[in-house]
Amino acid sequence: MNRASLRCITCAATYPTTQPRYHCDQCGDLLDVTYDWGAIDPERLKRLWNERLQSPRPIDRSGVWRYRELLPFYEDESQLVTYPEGNTPLLDAPRTAAYCGLNRLTVKHLGFNPTGSFKDHGMATGVTEGKILGMTAVLCASTGNTSASMAAYAARAGMLGIVLVPDGQITFGKLSQALDYGALTLMVEGDFDDAQELMREVAEEIGIYVLNSINPFRLEGQKTIAIELLHQRNWSPPDRIVVPGGNLGNSSAIGKGLKELYDLGFIDRLPRLTIVQASGADPLYRTITSGDPTRLITVHAKTLATAIKIGRPVSWKKAMRAVEWTNGWVTEVSEQAIADAKAIVGRDGIGCEPASAAAIAGIASLVEQGTDEVVSRDEDVVALLTGHLLKDPDYTVRYHVGELYEEFVTETRVLQCSNPIRGTFANMPIRVPSDKQRIIAAIEGFRRSEALTGRRG
Ligand code: F0G
Repeated sequence: MNRASLRCITCAATYPTTQPRYHCDQCGDLLDVTYDWGAIDPERLKRLWNERLQSPRPIDRSGVWRYRELLPFYEDESQLVTYPEGNTPLLDAPRTAAYCGLNRLTVKHLGFNPTGSFKDHGMATGVTEGKILGMTAVLCASTGNTSASMAAYAARAGMLGIVLVPDGQITFGKLSQALDYGALTLMVEGDFDDAQELMREVAEEIGIYVLNSINPFRLEGQKTIAIELLHQRNWSPPDRIVVPGGNLGNSSAIGKGLKELYDLGFIDRLPRLTIVQASGADPLYRTITSGDPTRLITVHAKTLATAIKIGRPVSWKKAMRAVEWTNGWVTEVSEQAIADAKAIVGRDGIGCEPASAAAIAGIASLVEQGTDEVVSRDEDVVALLTGHLLKDPDYTVRYHVGELYEEFVTETRVLQCSNPIRGTFANMPIRVPSDKQRIIAAIEGFRRSEALTGRRG
């Protein structure tokens, strides 16, 4: 039942899926997985997918393979690799909505995936395709989440995972996952953009299967984020979907998913895809506002949201295409705005990692200033929270104790810090002696200050 082929996003040259391929032989550009859809009956599939919600089979329980009629690139179901993944909640976030200036805001928390980020959607399909092709090892460069996810899925599928991560620029939460899941972990002395370039050269020379977002099969899994989101909303599209952008694979995948749902008749209008970048790692924002969206403006990336610390994103053309298809937009946000937005998401009892909070900061800024694009108060907005709070506890604790700095250099034992980030919504831990009365006094003091600031509201 393999109905798939690969098609170049620029010159439309097509290729069979029988060999690993990431670029067009004719023009060198990226490839899409495309399908000969045959007869698709959206109403029948919607019913079938509802029924699968009750099924105990792992591939029906998977928030990726539940939608396998829109992923027809395999021969038989025994090939499908699943944890299972997906099934991440849609949550109301009232405090975050108020902070953003919206009447209502929903977040889809992709951090509830098995390895704590949205990457698991892509690894389910990417590792499946690797298995179909007979691969025994898989390779990626990563800012942390891709490596954590790939390491887990490679282990589950009995493959060797090899990860290249920028030394000192990946959180311990993510590094610990790659190590524990048994991947060969190479800490490259450079940043993510260097690691990505080196990975490409290594893959070319020794022919290991690449599971970065240049692999179009990975993006097929990530497109199911859009499908599952629409399913959870009973196929009623929101006005806008907001997502943080780094290497720009996820926004590309979600754009493709939305377009396919629209073209095949599952939804009657397209939500506007809005991509948010950190202002120190904003190549797509610079490009779209430059007047020439066909030439990428690369940057030397700098942000504490290490997941999206990327200056030369590989999937930028696909992301630009997704923004065009959906009449969306790209914006950027400061380090302070990301940090405060993250604390607010925490106050909703939800929490996320810094890169995810960029999406929230982006909404707040588009509602407030409306310079590039205006989001109105009554829009129906869904923000995608891409990674779990516990991916980067160091950042969170530093924010709350007032020790988060934009510049943060550790050299042997000397710490140089500059540009402090204000703990606008800090929840400072209070050190107390081992004494009952002092503990009660601290609780009463905290309650009084809460009543004064009306914080629990
Ligand atoms: N949010 C988180 C938590 C991420 O880990 C990433 C990317 C993004 C957003 C951006 O998604 O790259 O598809 O635009 N992390 C990659 C990694 C680069 O290696 O884990 P993107």
